[in-house]
Amino acid sequence: MRIGLCTGGGDCPGLNAAIRAVVKHAVGTYRMEVVGIRDSFDGLVRPESQTVPLKLDEVTAILDRGGTILGTRNSGSPFGEEGVVGSKNGAKVEAIIAGYKKMNLDGLIVVGGDGTQRIASEFVKRGFNIVGVPKTIDNDLAGTEQTIGFATAVDIAADALIRLGTTAESHERIMILEVMGRNAGHIALHTGLAGGAHIILLPELPFAWDPIVAKVEERKALGRYFSLVVVAEGAHPQGGQQVYKDFGDGVARLGGIGQLVAHELAERTKMETRVTVLGHIQRGGQPSPHDRVLASAFGAFAVDLVAAKKFGRVVTLQNHCLVDEPYDRVAGHKRPVDLGHYLVRAAENIGICIGRHTDFDARRDLTQKK
Ligand code: F6P
Repeated sequence: MRIGLCTGGGDCPGLNAAIRAVVKHAVGTYRMEVVGIRDSFDGLVRPESQTVPLKLDEVTAILDRGGTILGTRNSGSPFGEEGVVGSKNGAKVEAIIAGYKKMNLDGLIVVGGDGTQRIASEFVKRGFNIVGVPKTIDNDLAGTEQTIGFATAVDIAADALIRLGTTAESHERIMILEVMGRNAGHIALHTGLAGGAHIILLPELPFAWDPIVAKVEERKALGRYFSLVVVAEGAHPQGGQQVYKDFGDGVARLGGIGQLVAHELAERTKMETRVTVLGHIQRGGQPSPHDRVLASAFGAFAVDLVAAKKFGRVVTLQNHCLVDEPYDRVAGHKRPVDLGHYLVRAAENIGICIGRHTDFDARRDLTQKK
């Protein structure tokens, strides 16, 4: 078989580990020919210059390398950007179809997050033999419990939070760490739990200021004159809006809620506040061992699906097993943080404020009354 391989969407640690696994299994086990397509589906527009043969030599020493050797794109969807009117590009769709046919592929493995898998699902409907592999630091793709890149992003953000803790304590400040995740709070929740946050603010739960201020004041009353806040970029106060940043290219991107939280808490608590926006540091550099393992497993399983001609399927992780799901159960469906999840419960049970009053507050009031 001759198969294509591309990476799409925002890059993340672990993409190269997935590429390596695909090539090793496809070439080593099945004697397939693997062709790398550069810059996601854009590479199919000009396959003569934008493709590269991938043999074992090409994937040597990339297991722990960040980014993607194939390049990627997270804008310019041929089917239109979410919320951007008039961005659908029929000519590009046709060019990609023509490029795919020209390449004479038996199958195509697409490593991508929500946006890329939505594009892939459109091409599945148009007859492409695609197998999807889920990646995104946001961990918000439906159907799979984990995506490539998430674990490393959490490692990086949790390390940053631990570091902020010592400087927060020295200066008696409120430190606010703004993390990525779009409209899902998985990174914020895991980072807060792993890094010792006192307050975690999630996009899934519009927050109230009173319980947050009460948490800071409670800590002061206990002699702890510092607090750590993790805020997801998509979080917003009750009755307020999400905060966006303008990078001058006409696309509104989430960012800036950390500053708003800092300003409000400084006014309400009279404490010094500082903000750290981790940004793309969460996506760069070496993937963690966990992501290298996950990416290797996902990549190899994708090849098995191609070999079995199980196209139009996405590799997923469910109950510690690899399961292939049809595209229509994954693409276009988000997986936000479930507020009934045991990690949310655990956070509140150990006294982390998530922007609402909880049982923990009620229990503490009783203790104080005794
Ligand atoms: O989806 C991954 C992600 O890193 C989000 O967490 C973040 O909002 C967005 O991509 C940033 O996109 P860009 O790389 O275009 O700034």
